[in-house]
Amino acid sequence: MKLLEPWKLALISLAVVVFLALVIGLLAYFLLMDPEMYFYNGSFKITNVQYTPDFDKQTSKEFRGLSANIETLVTRAFRASSLNKKYIRSHVIKLSPDARGVAVEIVLMFHFSSNDNMASYLERVRNILLQGLQTNTGYLQVDPSTFELSGMKKENGQNLLNNCCGIRILNSPFYSDRITGGRTAQEGAWPWQASLQLSGIHRCGATLISDSWLVTAAHCFRGQRNPSLWAASFGTVIRPPKGRRNLRSIIVHEQYTDTLRNHEYDIAVVQLASPVEFSGDIRKVCLPEEFSVFPPNTSCFVTGWGALQDDGPSVNNLRQAEVKIIDTDICNRAEVYSGFISPGMVCAGYLEGKIDACQGDSGGPLVTADSRGIWYLVGIVSWGDECAKRNKPGVYTRVTYYRNWIAAKTGI
Ligand code: ARG
Repeated sequence: MKLLEPWKLALISLAVVVFLALVIGLLAYFLLMDPEMYFYNGSFKITNVQYTPDFDKQTSKEFRGLSANIETLVTRAFRASSLNKKYIRSHVIKLSPDARGVAVEIVLMFHFSSNDNMASYLERVRNILLQGLQTNTGYLQVDPSTFELSGMKKENGQNLLNNCCGIRILNSPFYSDRITGGRTAQEGAWPWQASLQLSGIHRCGATLISDSWLVTAAHCFRGQRNPSLWAASFGTVIRPPKGRRNLRSIIVHEQYTDTLRNHEYDIAVVQLASPVEFSGDIRKVCLPEEFSVFPPNTSCFVTGWGALQDDGPSVNNLRQAEVKIIDTDICNRAEVYSGFISPGMVCAGYLEGKIDACQGDSGGPLVTADSRGIWYLVGIVSWGDECAKRNKPGVYTRVTYYRNWIAAKTGI
């Protein structure tokens, strides 16, 4: 047997060494440099804002206004700092009464690599935040002596946010469509989305508004209102789902009637047999207040497992599509829906067609993000003349119109 020539041996050894180095390098890169989410919990007092009970509700004008101001301050401070690239975002999670004004609790999120020095970061975050809360704060007066900041366990940070409405956190650092003309949704992108299933088969979408209540369309229960035959599943994939619950009760709007072509009062609420546990993939959306307005052209997303085209089958992976709110007067034009759009409905989509919800999306959410990046339920997929046709946009149940009905049935 002839030995390998020395130059061949050298070449092979070299190739092996290069290959090993590459593998080790890549492994080290992904294991050590993989940016991880870190949470900080900050608290301080604002001395020149009078506390009112409206601050108790995260969806009130008062809470949203003050929180937006505070979050803008914090974000501005970090954007102008050396931690710009590491800072993700901040959320005011609680405003509570204080003898001297309002006590604020805020969660900050960062991407750090596991080889970053965490102790030194705590100091830097503290200094940048404290500075930010004292300079150019507009009308807000923060008492620096009340300022506190501590690192949080990832689970605790996530738990705090899981219990807020309308927040989604994608694990990828890039935050960014029978949905016709849309695209597949990222995992965790629409954590309030549920699938309503009759005898194990997807029938409709639905939206989590608490850990035990869903809102959906009344017409989903046409012909079958017995809760024991229905179930809800969660997560972006129907098979296998991230979670599943039986239904305790189905409450269809009293004035909804099952006659064909009737789309008035197309709303129902559903109570789960047992509450879901909130996680990165399962969360509630925020409900807008009765008098919130979403003006024409507001960008929204509709999500669902419905058909990709009129009369097509449902899909297994959740899809999303960006649609715009259409003025009711325009939607009521002769060539569009000629007067069929009532005050309890809202049109969204495009008059040129192409992008729309479709069969199987019914009952699912039409949502929009506010300036803070918090998501609100604007509409419930209700009806349309086929799907994505020119001059036939999607028609949705207007949530603000039924806001009081939802509260009366669910207490939310
Ligand atoms: N009614 C349909 C369903 O049961 C959804 C209609 C939505 N249509 C539309 N073109 N946007 O799933």
